[in-house]
Amino acid sequence: MIYKYVPKPLKKHYKKLFWRVFYNYIGTIGILRKARFLNHGIIEDGENIELDEYNPLLFRRLSQNLYLHLMREATIDGKNYLEIGCGRGAGLELLMTHYKPAKAVGVDISDANIRYGKKLNKGNAVEFIRGDAEKQIFPNKSFDVVLNLESSHCYASKMNFYKNVFAILKDDGTFLYSDLFWHDDQTAAMEKQFDELGFYIEKKTDNTKPIMRSIELQASIRKHYVKGKISPNKKLSDMVALPGTPLYDGLTNGTIKYLFYVLKKKK
Ligand SMILES: C[S@@+](CC[C@H](N)C(=O)[O-])C[C@H]1O[C@@H](n2cnc3c(N)ncnc32)[C@H](O)[C@@H]1O
Repeated sequence: MIYKYVPKPLKKHYKKLFWRVFYNYIGTIGILRKARFLNHGIIEDGENIELDEYNPLLFRRLSQNLYLHLMREATIDGKNYLEIGCGRGAGLELLMTHYKPAKAVGVDISDANIRYGKKLNKGNAVEFIRGDAEKQIFPNKSFDVVLNLESSHCYASKMNFYKNVFAILKDDGTFLYSDLFWHDDQTAAMEKQFDELGFYIEKKTDNTKPIMRSIELQASIRKHYVKGKISPNKKLSDMVALPGTPLYDGLTNGTIKYLFYVLKKKK
């Protein structure tokens, strides 16, 4: 709402500040205070998961499924791994239980999420840095794998983010990239940007349906919680894609797609 009135030169600063404050804020309220994962989760074909009451462990499993679905596409053992937009560090905690990376780093713009991630990963050799996905803070070609999950829709310039990833990724590195994308023409423009930067798409998966299964399953429970505790904040209902919100409608009618790209550098 306010975004519309922000002068153009200030829009990008506003967006960054908004998400930083937003994620710091949701760390203080309702069931979201304890949520380790901040993604929609996935129920893959043939998987049968039932839920008839709020069960944090089951919610968590859906999100873990999603991380593992991405991680599976890269060689991680013995490699330098970076997650940009790492949220509360639960993806990195999961990484450390399934893989043996040489180095694991998480970057996020929210101070609260970084604090949460450090606490959750006490005892794990994971480094957490508060930083902006659009700014290069690591040396060129320093990571083998860069993962980004449900974060890039917050960025003021996705192009700056792609440039950053391209710079810090090794020549034979893998960029695991998954998010919600609006409209096919925007997706086509983004794929052109990948190409112009020097990436090629090794694999592209439309995960809208399996993600919707997870959203639908959780919505039956979340509706109750969001109504009781956080309904005044429309943004939150939309964020968790409750039925009737623009996000839910977009995913249902096909104007929003949930895509997963495996990107590599052209030789
Ligand atoms: C929907 S959450 C996803 C977090 C995590 N990937 C997960 O699946 O649990 C989006 C995350 O992106 C982070 N974020 C937003 N803008 C960012 C930016 N410019 N740079 C780095 N992180 C950012 C937010 O703070 C938040 O933790």
